[in-house]
Amino acid sequence: MKYDTRFPSIADLKTRAKKRIPNFAFDYVDGGIDDEHGKRRNREAWHEVEIVPRYLTDVTSADKTTRIFNHDYALPIGIPPIGLGNMMWPGAEMALAGAAQKNNIPYILSTFSTTPLEEIAKAAPDVCWFQLYVPQQVEVMKDLLGRVKNAGFNALVVTLDIPVGAKRNRELKNGLKLPFSFTPNIVWQSMIHPTWAMQTLAHGQPDFVNVLQYKEGPNEGLATFITNFAMHGVTRERIEMIRDMWDGPLILKGVQYDQDFRDALDIGVDGVVVSNHGGRQLDAAPASADSLRNVAVEIGARMTVMVDSGIRTGMDVIRARALGAEMTFSGRSFFWGMGAMGTGGAEQVIEIYRDEIDRTLKQVGCGSYAEMDRSWLK
Ligand SMILES: Cc1cc2nc3c(=O)[nH]c(=O)nc-3n(C[C@H](O)[C@H](O)[C@H](O)COP(=O)(O)O)c2cc1C
Repeated sequence: MKYDTRFPSIADLKTRAKKRIPNFAFDYVDGGIDDEHGKRRNREAWHEVEIVPRYLTDVTSADKTTRIFNHDYALPIGIPPIGLGNMMWPGAEMALAGAAQKNNIPYILSTFSTTPLEEIAKAAPDVCWFQLYVPQQVEVMKDLLGRVKNAGFNALVVTLDIPVGAKRNRELKNGLKLPFSFTPNIVWQSMIHPTWAMQTLAHGQPDFVNVLQYKEGPNEGLATFITNFAMHGVTRERIEMIRDMWDGPLILKGVQYDQDFRDALDIGVDGVVVSNHGGRQLDAAPASADSLRNVAVEIGARMTVMVDSGIRTGMDVIRARALGAEMTFSGRSFFWGMGAMGTGGAEQVIEIYRDEIDRTLKQVGCGSYAEMDRSWLK
């Protein structure tokens, strides 16, 4: 597929998405925590990474594949977990799964997704990974992991960086709360975005379909249930328990601290996603480009290092590779694609990245993504 040249960049998709979707959905995806400095710092830190181009070399082709967990992915960019995905654009999660399968890139389904995990595994059998918010109750965790395994997910990603619910001011101001309810602002926003509203009506109100079955009864409110669902601080002992239960690739997401990387290695984890959750949890958190730069070389040699937070261009993907990442993810890019173009937007995003990664590799004189390393850094 060739991309639609009306939207040649992720930034163009974002501008268009802002017009097409209601404020509360746009802000839910775009927002960070507190003053949103951390979110901005993510972008600035990627810009700071300078690559010295090498010429006098033949760059007729550039190999963009990356091999991780015994699978050759076509591109080093994947789709990370986004909770409540279908709120941003109705049908988003199935469309993302389909696009990921077709284009052979990883798709990580959130615990708090709004499409049954079994359906996603069928739509993306070769590339689906499951993201786990570790349930407080061990029995719930065992049941959920059993379903994930039976459905055929290829990898398990355990998110560490939500020990406490984030206070995101935009969400509070928009009146976005659980259960999703039609406040005057939300009704008005839906009315002035009729395409979104019609599609949402057609798909039904988004719900936490994968975990609702563990809700204890009508007396427990949805907000309380979701807030209390996950462990408040995932312990090392719990990761060890998960390691014993899950024999496929096990990945920790949200790692930034040196000792956490070492503990992960010690426990026998297979990979990490260096991430600050896109600046949504801790405004003072280091930019993920900086955290990635600080990952000790011996860690990178012994486990698969991946990264997200603030990646918006193919150039950023190459920067991440130069700093040591074998795979990258971009959350908001994919949701801007959907917001701008509907479910077809997923393919547009993939094509933008494919084109930009290809051009960047050739421009810097590197014949393959796998070969890019720290020697290219200024
Ligand atoms: C709207 C939204 C919802 C998210 N939901 C989840 C989630 O359910 N689980 C999770 O591990 N990370 C979640 N994340 C974090 C993303 O997986 C990813 O780390 C982040 O989007 C990367 O930053 P970027 O959007 O700047 O690329 C969410 C991010 C956004 C923007």
